[in-house]
Amino acid sequence: MSETPVSIARVTFDPSDPAFFQSPYAAYDQMRQAGRLVHWTNYGFAATAHYDLVSALLRDRRFGRDISHVINPAELGWPEPADHVKPFYAFEKGSMLEREPPVHTRLRGLVNRAFVSRAIDQLQPRIERLCEDLIDGFIEAGEADLLAQYATPIPVIVIAELLGLPPDDAPLLLDWSHRMVAMYQFNRSRAVEDSAVAATRDFSDYVRQFIAERRRRPADDLISSLIAARDSGDRLNDDELVTTIILLMNAGHEATVHAIGNGLKILLEQRQSEPAHWLRLLDVMATEEGAAAIAEETLRLDPPLHLFTRYALEPCDIEGQSFRIGDKVGLLLGAANRDPAIYARPEEFDPDRFLTRPAPPQPMSFGAGIHFCVGAPLARLELRLALPALFRRLPHLRLSTQPVFGDTFHFHGLTALPCKWTGSRDGD
Ligand code: HEM
Repeated sequence: MSETPVSIARVTFDPSDPAFFQSPYAAYDQMRQAGRLVHWTNYGFAATAHYDLVSALLRDRRFGRDISHVINPAELGWPEPADHVKPFYAFEKGSMLEREPPVHTRLRGLVNRAFVSRAIDQLQPRIERLCEDLIDGFIEAGEADLLAQYATPIPVIVIAELLGLPPDDAPLLLDWSHRMVAMYQFNRSRAVEDSAVAATRDFSDYVRQFIAERRRRPADDLISSLIAARDSGDRLNDDELVTTIILLMNAGHEATVHAIGNGLKILLEQRQSEPAHWLRLLDVMATEEGAAAIAEETLRLDPPLHLFTRYALEPCDIEGQSFRIGDKVGLLLGAANRDPAIYARPEEFDPDRFLTRPAPPQPMSFGAGIHFCVGAPLARLELRLALPALFRRLPHLRLSTQPVFGDTFHFHGLTALPCKWTGSRDGD
């Protein structure tokens, strides 16, 4: 693959440098100041840290996540994937996230209805009970790793139940999912690739068996409705059915786990550094609208997914930079969310910005355009319920140690969130 011809400022930031992945925001500011588009040498593509350009390019139909519908990648001189990773890419062919219209439209149309706000809002009592049950499980201990014991199980159990997969299989599903999404790592190793391919095969076999079981005994769940769609016409084939289920399972928890973890970290740091402001935050958190604004502001300030790319589907000129068909552009969601042209004092945690009118545009955390996150209403509901539930039950919640982010720029998430508390609302 040839590099983009460079007529724009070059920037060098190594995504695997701890100084970068612990907090990439100073680097983003430098990129934004260096130009509307910059050439990110470590990746070898043009990228933007400007909100308006990220938003415009995500919606621009001259760019897409897939290119195979307009040109055979071989004609661009792109090497074929190595044999050992072919099964992973064959699996991805059935994923709406990796396709463009008309295939994308068909696949997304099959699941859209299950994820609209009206359907998702009905899950509120279940999610509230789940949060309470998890807190009951660790409250007496006086300490917990809230990433492993709270932020992780909530989204995993919710999406497994929605699909109809047994929540008891969560450890298995988590392991497969982690190994599969490691494919999106910068400079991944052969070991990561082999593990991802093995996980894809095992997860697919598991789902195929589950589909056979559900065909015999349909239930009131999303997998049963997808099977019905499969069997009542040609709206999706068997491979697409398997991939769609796995995509929803993986996308349904990986990012939300870290959104909850990052959100809790922000709130606990606020409490420590701004005790006076904290009391006001607790008041805000107590209302539904306030809790939603807090959730949105945590998603803006420290989102779990920072970088998505698009291919140019035709030659075009963007901000004075020529793109040839197949050239990549990097869209920095995490940088767009801190663009001072859109958000005043972008580095400050200020949920009021989403409570005052007119509110600023929504953060880029869920993307934009045709691939805008189908699970956004679900993720927002989980965050809006999970964050306040903890502080209600554990008013003395504190960080035990300063948490750190993992070495995976593709998922900006914590490695652990050790916390402690004395007393509880129950015991007060
Ligand atoms: C806070 C949590 C989440 C974040 C930050 C997030 C973020 C995103 C982003 C940025 C995209 C677009 C990628 C692109 O344009 O290239 C996306 C797509 C997607 N997300 Fe999420 N997501 C979250 C939770 C969820 C949940 C709970 C689900 C459950 C169903 C989900 C399912 C999907 C799917 C299926 C797509 C592909 C949509 C398409 O291609 O049309 N996500 N997500």
